[in-house]
Amino acid sequence: MKAAQIAAYGGPEVIEIVDLPTPEPGEGEVLVRAAAIGVGKPDFLLRSGIYKWKPPLPTILGNEMSGHVEAVGPGVSGLNEGQPVLVFGTGGGRYAEYNTVSTSLVTPLPDSVDLDAAVSIPNYIIAWALLFEAARGIDVKTAYVNGAAGGMGTAIIDLCRSQDIDIIAGASSDEKCAFVSEFGATHTINYSRDAVAEKALELTGGRGVDLAFDQLIGPRFTDSLDMLAPLGMVVSYNALAGFPEDELFAAMRARVGKSLAVRCFSWHVFDDNPEKAQQNIEAVVEQFAAGTFNPPIHDRLPLAEARHAHELLDARAIMGKLVLKP
Ligand SMILES: NC(=O)c1ccc[n+]([C@@H]2O[C@H](COP(=O)([O-])OP(=O)(O)OC[C@H]3O[C@@H](n4cnc5c(N)ncnc54)[C@H](OP(=O)(O)O)[C@@H]3O)[C@@H](O)[C@H]2O)c1
Repeated sequence: MKAAQIAAYGGPEVIEIVDLPTPEPGEGEVLVRAAAIGVGKPDFLLRSGIYKWKPPLPTILGNEMSGHVEAVGPGVSGLNEGQPVLVFGTGGGRYAEYNTVSTSLVTPLPDSVDLDAAVSIPNYIIAWALLFEAARGIDVKTAYVNGAAGGMGTAIIDLCRSQDIDIIAGASSDEKCAFVSEFGATHTINYSRDAVAEKALELTGGRGVDLAFDQLIGPRFTDSLDMLAPLGMVVSYNALAGFPEDELFAAMRARVGKSLAVRCFSWHVFDDNPEKAQQNIEAVVEQFAAGTFNPPIHDRLPLAEARHAHELLDARAIMGKLVLKP
């Protein structure tokens, strides 16, 4: 079988297409034939060697894949040959024509779920967990999201739209702002040009947003606290632009009259709570089956072009989700 593998950490050039024997499912595993493979920022983190949960080298990249069960290993019940499934779990392995995976990484999919759209389900699961677990207790009427045109950003917009939450979407170009506006954002901010907190306050009549979904953070992060409404929260799910220059606690005390919160979230919070993870996964799959969500697909590329896919990822050139086809 063909797979996209790395033997060293680095740029897109470290990705090699290799021929490997098709694996056989062991005890408690199934063999899944890929229909679609998702490309996302976590793949960049693994490729660059900065991912905390990285497997030993050489390793196959990828965290998300949809397909059909091809064979069932000993001791497996509840999964059958030919069944459509999602494989979702960090630590690589998905950029391949076939995967043998523990059933704990496999979610059965209803026939009504399109398998190309299904590779966006993990983004929606994170979005769901950010809104309903990480931001539990916040009464969210208006939210801000940055990196809004990417895979996670569009999932957050789509989820907020389904919950009647007004969304202010931030992106680095007018083209990306037009894209997210078309996709359902209530307002947009081009943060290459405009000051985010100022603009968000202007767009909310001075009240601010109840929740900010932040994957960037960055040196000027503490300024962005000004965009929050009283009792508002920033839920951070990465810090792609680096850490704040100013002392965060001091900045929060300086705004204590608004009683703000900042939470750093990782899906790995559920590593020891698989039931909770499963609840979030099932809630999102149910919404996909009902047709609630509509993930935008940037493009479909052959698996053999995995290196080019990562060039696009690194260039921040992807709007929506990039899908690899085996
Ligand atoms: N915490 C968790 O459990 C969890 C789980 C899954 C994913 N994540 C994180 O979610 C984030 C989004 O993933 P994704 O797959 O949606 O990525 P993506 O599609 O590549 O989108 C990321 C967006 O971030 C913006 N960006 C700003 N500065 C950037 C930089 N220095 N490098 C790259 N992008 C930058 C880009 O938009 P602009 O050009 O408009 O700025 C880009 O569209 C990643 O950071 C990933 O690690 C976290």
